[in-house]
Amino acid sequence: ARASVGGNIPVAWEALRDEAAGCTRCPLYRDATQTVFGEGPVDAALMFVGEQPGDQEDLAGKPFVGPAGQMFNRALAEAGIDRASVYVTNAVKHFKFEQRGKRRIHSKPGAGEIEACRWWIDQERMLVKPRVTVALGATAARSLFGKTMAIGRERGRALALPGDGGEAWITVHPSYLLRLPDEAEKEEEFARFVEDLRRVGERVA
Ligand code: URA
Repeated sequence: ARASVGGNIPVAWEALRDEAAGCTRCPLYRDATQTVFGEGPVDAALMFVGEQPGDQEDLAGKPFVGPAGQMFNRALAEAGIDRASVYVTNAVKHFKFEQRGKRRIHSKPGAGEIEACRWWIDQERMLVKPRVTVALGATAARSLFGKTMAIGRERGRALALPGDGGEAWITVHPSYLLRLPDEAEKEEEFARFVEDLRRVGERVA
C-alpha cells in the first residue's frame, strides 16, 4: 500500500496488518495459507469490501487478484475509478474452502466467522475513514450493517451505516457476474454493476 501523507496513520495500519497476520479469532486460520488484509491508500475516500479471499488471493496474500478481481478491475476501469486510489478489503480475511482432490472449493463464510472478523474491518474503517464504503455482495453487507440486507432492494443508493459509520452503498459481488450462465444477462448485469460503481465514484469526485 502507498503510505498516506503525514502523521502516524501508515504506522498504525502496518501494525494492524501485522497483528492480523497472526489472527486466531476463528478457526479459519488453520487451513488457510495466510491472512489476506486490506490493501490501498490509508487515506482513500472509497473503501470496497468483498466477502473473503479466494484461492488465488489466499496464495498471493492480496485481495481481489483472481478471476473475481479481474472482473472487479474491469468494472472499476469502465466506471472511471482508479483501483490504486481505493482501499480494497474483505469482510472475512482467511480463505474458507473445502478440499476436493487437489482443488480447493470456496465455501461461504458463516455468521460466526463474519462476526469474529468484524473486529478487523472495524479497525480498518477507523483508520481509513472512507467517505463512502461499498459492500460487494451479501456477506460484506452483513458485516457492515450487522444484519442481513436485501441487495436487490438496497442497491444503487446511499445508505447510512450504523453508528457514525458514514455513507455506504451495496452492490453485487463480482463473482455473481462470473457465475451467470447466460451471456446477454451477464452483459446486462455487468453494465448495472458498472453503473453502481459510477454513481459511487461521483460521491467522492
Ligand atoms: N472474492 C472476494 O470477495 N474477495 C477477494 O479478495 C477475492 C474474491
